[in-house]
Amino acid sequence: MNDRARWNARYASENAPRRVHANLVRLAPLLQTGRILDLAGGIGQNALWLTQQSPVARGIVADISDEALRQASSQLARVLCDAAALPFAPHSFDTILCTRFFDARVRFDELLTRGGTVFFETFTTADAKYNPAFNPAHRLDLARIPQIFTGLEILYLHETDDGRHVYVTLVARRR
Ligand SMILES: C[S@@+](CC[C@H](N)C(=O)[O-])C[C@H]1O[C@@H](n2cnc3c(N)ncnc32)[C@H](O)[C@@H]1O
Repeated sequence: MNDRARWNARYASENAPRRVHANLVRLAPLLQTGRILDLAGGIGQNALWLTQQSPVARGIVADISDEALRQASSQLARVLCDAAALPFAPHSFDTILCTRFFDARVRFDELLTRGGTVFFETFTTADAKYNPAFNPAHRLDLARIPQIFTGLEILYLHETDDGRHVYVTLVARRR
């Protein structure tokens, strides 16, 4: 089963991610408003919440799952695509949300406007102690942060071990 089919099956079930991330709500004051991309955003609940905080915000959810996008709010633009081949013009987003997803090929600096921000939260390599079967390519090694977020200033960085997962929460701004 390929990734699209696997995620489509998950979104067709009850067992799909649908909650707004608590750390996004807490750290939203650090984020720019305007054009907001929810990258691998699933049903786009995080982008929907953030766009509802500002009258000038416009949200786009991009995901590989057409079933997730079908369930996304019509208040969001929905783009079916692979994060490794994004169909967006350079420097076209004021904020990018990327939660519970990691692909080292994504160039945040090339997608963001000057001063644009990223909210990023995903599993780190330390998560392997709880979830050894998870694909290591989708975990972030904290040592790679300068490379992944090249051209960006880190505004907030925290690694959390909640006893079931280890994940990093990061906010960065393009210089
Ligand atoms: C764990 S879910 C997280 C969804 C959402 N960001 C959230 O936090 O609720 C991972 C998401 O990545 C999407 N995805 C997986 N591989 C992808 C790819 N190569 N390109 C774009 N989206 C992808 C899945 O369809 C799914 O919506």
